[in-house]
Amino acid sequence: MNNIMHTPEGMRDIIPSEYEQKLNISDKLLQVMKDSGYLLMQTPSFEYFDVFAKDTGMTPSSRLYKFYDKEGNTLVLRPDFTPPMARAYSTLYFNETKPVRLCYSGNTFVNGSDLNGMLKESTQIGAELYDDASCEADAAMIGLMVKCMQTAGFDDFLVSIGNADFFRGLCEELGISQDDEAALWKLISVRNYHKAEELLNDLKVNSELAQLTLRISDDYTSKESLYELKEKLRNEKCRNACDRLVGICEILEKEGVDKNVSIDLGLLNKYDYYTGVIFRAYTYGFGDAVMKGGRYDNLVKEFGKDVPAIGFGISLDELLIAKGGQKHLPTSEAGYLTFALTKGRLADKTLALLEKCGITCEEMKDKDTRKLIFVNEDLKLKFFLAKGPDVPTYVEHGVADIGVVGKDTIDEEGRKILEVLDLGFGKCRMCVCGPKEAGQLLTTRDLIRIATKYPKIAKRYFNDVRHQSVDIIKLNGSIELAPIVGLSDCIVDIVETGSTLRENGLDVLEEIYGLSARMVVNPVSMRMQSKRINSLIAKVKEAL
Ligand code: PRP
Repeated sequence: MNNIMHTPEGMRDIIPSEYEQKLNISDKLLQVMKDSGYLLMQTPSFEYFDVFAKDTGMTPSSRLYKFYDKEGNTLVLRPDFTPPMARAYSTLYFNETKPVRLCYSGNTFVNGSDLNGMLKESTQIGAELYDDASCEADAAMIGLMVKCMQTAGFDDFLVSIGNADFFRGLCEELGISQDDEAALWKLISVRNYHKAEELLNDLKVNSELAQLTLRISDDYTSKESLYELKEKLRNEKCRNACDRLVGICEILEKEGVDKNVSIDLGLLNKYDYYTGVIFRAYTYGFGDAVMKGGRYDNLVKEFGKDVPAIGFGISLDELLIAKGGQKHLPTSEAGYLTFALTKGRLADKTLALLEKCGITCEEMKDKDTRKLIFVNEDLKLKFFLAKGPDVPTYVEHGVADIGVVGKDTIDEEGRKILEVLDLGFGKCRMCVCGPKEAGQLLTTRDLIRIATKYPKIAKRYFNDVRHQSVDIIKLNGSIELAPIVGLSDCIVDIVETGSTLRENGLDVLEEIYGLSARMVVNPVSMRMQSKRINSLIAKVKEAL
């Protein structure tokens, strides 16, 4: 009976006043779509698993709510609308006048992580355009996204446009393998340019091309810069991607909807789903894009009809969070840049580094203060101190624009944040440690008991790198105690000077990788305040 009074994690009741607001915005957005010729339709709440399987879905299988029908078929609560809409279009629309425009509204379900403040059931509204591969169709969709942002009441927003083909072509021009492409993709999509540079150096690619790759997000944001970029590249996919983006920009300019639009060739999507233009709408108040879309010319054929398609989805609940966030932010506050720093040594070193760049916060120097937020009014900066694992959380949710935190914490937390600078201090190593005799265990395939503060890193290392089964015991500190008192065989932990290990008769049995402090940035802040944040990154880089 304990569970009848509250909703499951990630699900919620919406009170009448809030629901009224939600319905109101929903009606307005659907009206914009209908006015543009999109026909509203409905698809079922659950579908066969295959509709969302690897080649058709954007949600990993582990995040789907699955169950069985009476015949034993696996069913899935829809995590998004694009595959079911493509299925419905494929089966229902024959001999229609091209193109077909459809729109939808309904709830989606994603079985995401617990305790991260994200909803598991949310309402999505979206539009899909089938059987039109033209540049005009791309521009029309982006124009519709801009209109939807305005209709939702946002003045200050940005629609970023990328092209999935550009990065594919660039990797062909770099002449790198598929595995290296995947590694580079991972680094560029979180703006980890220092590691991307190391990778490109190791691969010995043409240095000019390497530099261009590292600058794709920052140097080619306008139509004019794309002409310049095209001249530097021979790969047809890249050149066509540039032409396409220029074409889109020209149409948007002609129609007067280019004001809030910017090119971002570093806008990459994890799945092979998108085949051309990708676009996302960002605004303050929510840490991620509130509208996401793109061209997916190969998806519909998976459902039997080989036609190009393009569309976008709006997460209505996230959009309302952004609106709520903006309401709480008086306009005078909007100009602040907020830093979340890791309490302790990292914060001290960060403040010393920022001081070298002319950024100070006198209030923070008072060690006895119980204040939580410190402000530099002249520079319009705010700072707060947080426990390491909380820093990526604050940055992911966008309540801090910038964070400084150890690489160990970034990897363990796995948040959607950009890792823009290796600050070089706070150097240590992630290691497997234990008594010498435990070294023997690492060479066998026996189940090993590992105590750690880093269960995800430990699991990834043992399962994916060593292909070994492990029993992981999560502890919160003084990890070295575990093998001494017999709770575990080994530990996975950070080693800085090695003195804790030495004083307790333990050894490093294996080094996993090197760590240091990183500067992280919220993806929305990076786009909405790119000039200010990029100039700060440049200053800090110089001071290192
Ligand atoms: C970290 C880490 C090790 C120790 C390593 O613990 O978990 O215990 O530092 O440093 P060393 O190699 O210089 O001895 P921390 O001091 O952060 O506290 P904790 O044990 O409570 O996690």
